Amino acid sequence: MPAANSFDIAEAAAALLRGELVGMPTETVYGLAANAMDATAVLRIFSAKGRPHFDPLIVHVADADQAWTVAEPSARARRLATLWPGPLTLILPRKAGIDDLITSGLDTVGVRVPDHPIALALIRAAGVPLAAPSANRFGRISPTCAAHVWEQLDGTIAGVVDGGPCRVGIESTVLRPDPLPVILRPGGISREELEAILGEPVTMADHQVRTESLPQQAPGMLASHYAPRIPLRLRDADADWPSATDVARLAFSVAPAQPGGPTEVLSARGDLAEAAMHLFAALRRLDASGAQRMVAELVPDLGLGPAINDRLRRAAGLG
Ligand code: TXA
Ligand code: MG
Repeated sequence: MPAANSFDIAEAAAALLRGELVGMPTETVYGLAANAMDATAVLRIFSAKGRPHFDPLIVHVADADQAWTVAEPSARARRLATLWPGPLTLILPRKAGIDDLITSGLDTVGVRVPDHPIALALIRAAGVPLAAPSANRFGRISPTCAAHVWEQLDGTIAGVVDGGPCRVGIESTVLRPDPLPVILRPGGISREELEAILGEPVTMADHQVRTESLPQQAPGMLASHYAPRIPLRLRDADADWPSATDVARLAFSVAPAQPGGPTEVLSARGDLAEAAMHLFAALRRLDASGAQRMVAELVPDLGLGPAINDRLRRAAGLG
């Protein structure tokens, strides 16, 4: 990575206030940050990513008080905000001052407090909320280290603040708290944790709820996202792993017994948080391994499992 474009927090804050884009580490994935109060800067995010304008952006703030300057809290939202800083994005009624570009014209805004010291320091140094999608080209694998950001976005960003590898490794859980709590995108906080905080059931949005909450289809919630370059298919449960040397294999905890192509194991001890942390980097390595195709297995469907499986299904082009 060119050192000239590795920013410290002061340089990054100054670039943001000039309307430029900055790669920002968070606990989930790296974000492509812009000053949320500067419509021209926000517009640059869409062109840098090649992202369609109907996909709304998350606004990153330093604490709940700052969140309530852009979004209207409800009783449930205040309760959920006790999970901040953390990998939880709340979809709430938006306040004046948040541009239509950020919300894609919706009357709600997504807001979160990232659990990363550099992200928090950057938001505070800039003194404004930061709009930031994941720092990847539209539809591609999300970045979990600074080098991933360069690979896809060099030339469109002023610089990256290098915060090392991301601890959570998959994006935040996107939750609409009202009128009843619904997860629009599974992510770094599990449904079980959300139910424990709220003391009531939290549902996982089916396709219909997702399209109702977003008048246009939201690509982050669509099939064929997080996609490697080579085709990926999911392994049928109990089927043998392929042994052809040009087929890459992504396993959860047990390496395939038979020899074969390039292989990654997400967590040898079967830990879902560790698997989430390794997911996107493993997908990238297999994508770059020279293999022609990839086969991945789903992980157990509890804790962070549904979020990992969501990414794998979308990487396979399934909804
Ligand atoms: O962990 C994360 O959330 C990362 C880091 C950088 O914070 N950001 C991220 O942003 O994943 P992005 O743009 O890749 O995904 C944002 C998701 C999209 O699926 C979008 O449709 C949804 O949040 N979203 C944003 N605002 C929304 C709104 N008002 N209503 C419904 N969904 C919304
Ligand atoms: Mg994304």
